[in-house]
Amino acid sequence: MTVPHVDDVHPAWLPPEAFRALGARRVLVLADASEVAETVRAEVADACARHGGAVAAPGEPYDLVLALTSDGSLPAAAQAVKGPEPGAEGFLLARSGGVTVVLADQPAGLLYGFFAVVRLGEAAFEGDRPAETHRPALARRMLDHWDNIGVHPVMGQVERGYSGGSIFWHDGVLHEDLTRVRAYARLLAATGVNAVAVNNVNVHATEARLLTDRLGEVAALAAEFRAYGIRVHLSVTFASPIVLGGLETANPVEEDVRAWWARTTERVYETIPDFGGYVVKADSEGQPGPFAYGRDHADGANMLADALAPHGGVVHWRAFVYNHRQDWRDRKTDRARAAHDHFSPLDGRFRDNAILQVKYGPIDFQTREPISPVIAAMPATKLAVELQVTQEYTGQQRHVCYLAPMWSEVLGFRFWGPGERAVADVTTSGGLVAVSNVGDDPYWTGHPLAQANLYAFGRLAWNPGLDPAAILDEWIGLTFPKGGEGLRETLHGMMDGSWRTYERYTAPLGVGFMVRPGHHYGPDVDGYEYTPWGTYHFADRDGVGVDRTRSTGTGYTGQYPAPWSQVYESRAECPDELLLFFHHVPYEHVLQSGTTVIQHIYDTHFAGAEEAAEIRALWAKLEGDDVVDPALYARVRERLDEQVRSAEEWRDQINTYFFRKSGVPDAHGRTIH
Ligand code: GCU
Repeated sequence: MTVPHVDDVHPAWLPPEAFRALGARRVLVLADASEVAETVRAEVADACARHGGAVAAPGEPYDLVLALTSDGSLPAAAQAVKGPEPGAEGFLLARSGGVTVVLADQPAGLLYGFFAVVRLGEAAFEGDRPAETHRPALARRMLDHWDNIGVHPVMGQVERGYSGGSIFWHDGVLHEDLTRVRAYARLLAATGVNAVAVNNVNVHATEARLLTDRLGEVAALAAEFRAYGIRVHLSVTFASPIVLGGLETANPVEEDVRAWWARTTERVYETIPDFGGYVVKADSEGQPGPFAYGRDHADGANMLADALAPHGGVVHWRAFVYNHRQDWRDRKTDRARAAHDHFSPLDGRFRDNAILQVKYGPIDFQTREPISPVIAAMPATKLAVELQVTQEYTGQQRHVCYLAPMWSEVLGFRFWGPGERAVADVTTSGGLVAVSNVGDDPYWTGHPLAQANLYAFGRLAWNPGLDPAAILDEWIGLTFPKGGEGLRETLHGMMDGSWRTYERYTAPLGVGFMVRPGHHYGPDVDGYEYTPWGTYHFADRDGVGVDRTRSTGTGYTGQYPAPWSQVYESRAECPDELLLFFHHVPYEHVLQSGTTVIQHIYDTHFAGAEEAAEIRALWAKLEGDDVVDPALYARVRERLDEQVRSAEEWRDQINTYFFRKSGVPDAHGRTIH
């Protein structure tokens, strides 16, 4: 095992300097011969060779020991460390008598402990540190790639990808040199991610074959990820028995269909013994599923769960099921209701190794949505929450939009009121999943500052209680080792509030989907208003918003438990930022903030565009400063120019649209076109 270093690709949060504190020390590793333990040894050797430290042999002095609790030769310094058992992926961290100790039960924990020491830098080697046990809060911390093997004529190679082509495939074949995949695995492991699905949930004809005759490519990727403790999963089409197996049906209760899945899955495990499992998008936006056979989603998911169970695999079954051929004239059908209507009656019917994967909001990764009520409605089902690190609806990696504050709100949301369990507690067994934002771009994520979203996702999945600003601080320290307090302040100023800034100049009060149809970039208020997609705002001359109340609307508020079922039902109590998601109100309706809806729309759009300009001005101060590489400076600068242009476009279109509809002038007399 050699540590992957890739020329011409930005090192993200693992530049050589990040390893200086550890690499300048004498480090003893006491572990088994497993692959992940070998990775820890290789990492230590690499860091020490670079920074003048040394790998200590047993008996030699050391400053840091990384040891498995099962190791027979644990030195006294390690034996003295006591704390709750670290478990499968956790570790104990302590320091006394000039020695830093990382103890883990399993090699994966040792690897995470190693990266924790890297994160701490010099602080890991200062003073005393009472023993702390670190364990991941969520069992599965997974990134879903929406990568295709080939290039789709409309979507490109990576569906909703804004960072170039796939890091896995090129020109229809797997990249010959997979060093970059290993470097990616290393970056992910440093944040705590332990699972990756390698292909798009929309499984096209070529990608379907990854399950069978192209399985070798998945095995090759799994070999790169394995070294860093990451299991590989595969998106499969529900119609596989037909399209790959030559059967006439994919009916989940037919014996030959079940036998086909069992056989096929067995072959997968013969090739990849630690394969993670399947991801399935069924009966969703045209993908095949059990409905075609009069079967429900528990029948479909359980069939795959049964095929995977003997091998320890799981199926991630997505709850993104709704009618995408709706009639816009029909005000009764509500897309927001769909997942709950379909899935909550199935609670208790899913196998233990079936995980229902639910998008955080009821619609589709919008800038602001209420939290999906499905998460509260299925106590007898394993649930995973799905986020979108790729910025499909949040600026497509051309806009700075640090998403950790949004995710932190999602994970901390309490369906049953204060003091009750939060979303993060409900999803401990299923986990946290997100759509990756990585491509073959030299900065990995197109916009260099979008790396922070990838970093923050892993850290929040490990510990949902972390403060988004503190995570950003960690990321800044690791990524820009030459940057001092000035850079730190600049980046916090640009990024801490950037999600709210984005919300201000795009989506007022919980209205979503005012984007250009198809690619979803830029404003188009009525772009989706008369389409079959079910994403309407119902603006007219009198008011705007969707009535989702029980009393006069679609009844969606009734899918929430108390207190939220009441809070959302009430115009007076509904939080301002979600008002138009739940209510259709007149433009002169007065918000809790004291302003009217129409004035709020004007104010936030003027403010949002101004804030975008301020973000750019902050960055401009760094020009010529040697704390940021000139090429990275230029890349960010070019994106900021586009962000400012686009924010003004949003401001003007939204303000003009609502001025024309309502006829109400801006109270401050600013220019509305
Ligand atoms: C969004 C996105 C699609 C994607 C879908 C999904 O609608 O625009 O590209 O396929 O989500 O999550 O399945």
